[in-house]
Amino acid sequence: MKYYFLLIAFLAITLISCSDDNTTNPPAADPVAYTNADGIKGGMLFDKFWATETGFDQTNANITKLNASADFFRCKQCHAWDLMGRNGSYNNRAPKTTRPNVADRNLRTTASNLTPQALFDAIKKGLGKSRRDISADLSTYDPATNSTIGDQMPDFSKILTDAQIWDIVKFLKTEALDVTKLYDATYSGTYPTGTATYSNIGKDGDATAGNTFYTAKCAICHGADGKQIPNLDGTTGMTVGKFARTKPNELQHKMKFGQLGSSMKATAGTITDFKNLYKALADTTKYPN
Ligand code: HEC
Ligand code: HEC
Repeated sequence: MKYYFLLIAFLAITLISCSDDNTTNPPAADPVAYTNADGIKGGMLFDKFWATETGFDQTNANITKLNASADFFRCKQCHAWDLMGRNGSYNNRAPKTTRPNVADRNLRTTASNLTPQALFDAIKKGLGKSRRDISADLSTYDPATNSTIGDQMPDFSKILTDAQIWDIVKFLKTEALDVTKLYDATYSGTYPTGTATYSNIGKDGDATAGNTFYTAKCAICHGADGKQIPNLDGTTGMTVGKFARTKPNELQHKMKFGQLGSSMKATAGTITDFKNLYKALADTTKYPN
């Protein structure tokens, strides 16, 4: 009897060590489609995938619906510019009849935990989660009484090509700026009545280098003091400096991927370039409100 037990124990150990060997094999190479994907275009798709800048087919039969219910389809509405959903800057972005609840997910964490293929599958197939039919009626959405369908992530397998989804995967994994390197933030309270407070804009960045970057990339349109295009964002008195200090969560994306629908195109730069620019824009004398 004792020997049978030893034999079973021996077999079990052998099997465990075999499976250990398997898991220590090098991971499969990245899919070619991921390697070739364009993460800058992915950032634009994340903002508004059907914008002309992304190359989206403007004859797509859903365009009217997308424009009419934009916030139900834009990744950024449900996941936020900082990718942190309701756990970050959008902890106070309450739903209304024209926009859904912000998702309770942190896509930055998701993107770093998942392989490119798994992230692709999560976006395209939903991995068992309910996805909203593209044709779902959103005209009756009401956060208080009728929010279930509207809050669901759309079934993107029906509207994005694989290449577009790979571009988004590339954006999430490699091009999305890590906002914790650009500013400090405290998030308090509970969605949708939370508060986001920003401080230390530009952190340990170099303001001199940031001013040089601003002069080269922004001043031609916004002027040396950031006031040349007035009332940015449709807000009276909004300047580039004020925007950087009050909406650093949003500006980082607009700088790197462009302000879609305007002449402001994507600006190439490293996280250090953008951090330096933030440091410069934190100066209220040089870039006043
Ligand atoms: C209407 C809101 C909404 C929109 C628009 C939306 N999502 Fe989501 N998303 C959600 C919700 C809610 C979840 C969590 C539940 C789930 O997985 O379905 C989610 C989950 C995810 C996940 C899985 C995250 C995890 O940790 O499980 C990824 C990745 C994702 N979304 C990416 C995107 C991308 C990319 C877009 C734009 C192409 C997008 N989402 C648009 C609501 C939305
Ligand atoms: C080619 C001209 C051009 C350049 C270069 C440019 N912008 Fe803009 N920017 C615009 C226009 C046009 C708008 C949109 C104005 C509007 O929609 O009312 C805009 C919008 C903005 C906004 C407001 C965004 C919003 O959500 O409404 C900010 C902030 C901003 N730009 C900062 C910058 C910074 C910082 C740079 C340099 C990295 C820069 N811009 C480069 C033309 C430019």
